[in-house]
Amino acid sequence: MRPARNEASPEPQAGFLCALDDIPDGGALEIPADQPGAPGVVILRRGENAWAYRNMCPHFSIPLNYEPNTFWAYDAELLMCAHHSAMFRFEDGMCVDGPCEGAALTAVAIRIERRQIFNND
Ligand code: FES
Repeated sequence: MRPARNEASPEPQAGFLCALDDIPDGGALEIPADQPGAPGVVILRRGENAWAYRNMCPHFSIPLNYEPNTFWAYDAELLMCAHHSAMFRFEDGMCVDGPCEGAALTAVAIRIERRQIFNND
């Protein structure tokens, strides 16, 4: 994964993904993969909480978005796949409506330290 900018520290920090405030509250931020064709990560935010998932819809194993870093989120609760409108809960990535209902996004372990988000894998 390619880290987003880290304005809080000029030194690279292992596992840094982005600042919490880089993510729109109630929305999502894409962290592109290092290698072309590999799935990136989508980080969802609600207030002080964030959840990260592989940016790959379980329906067709393709990215959840059409355009770079463009996602549809509803009421800071659900993320919608841009292809066939599957709806995923922020908290656990579970598809609660759509063609892959009952399947889930693949979670990426993260931690938040001083409003900075790090990959915990
Ligand atoms: S590819 Fe996501 S709902 Fe079909």
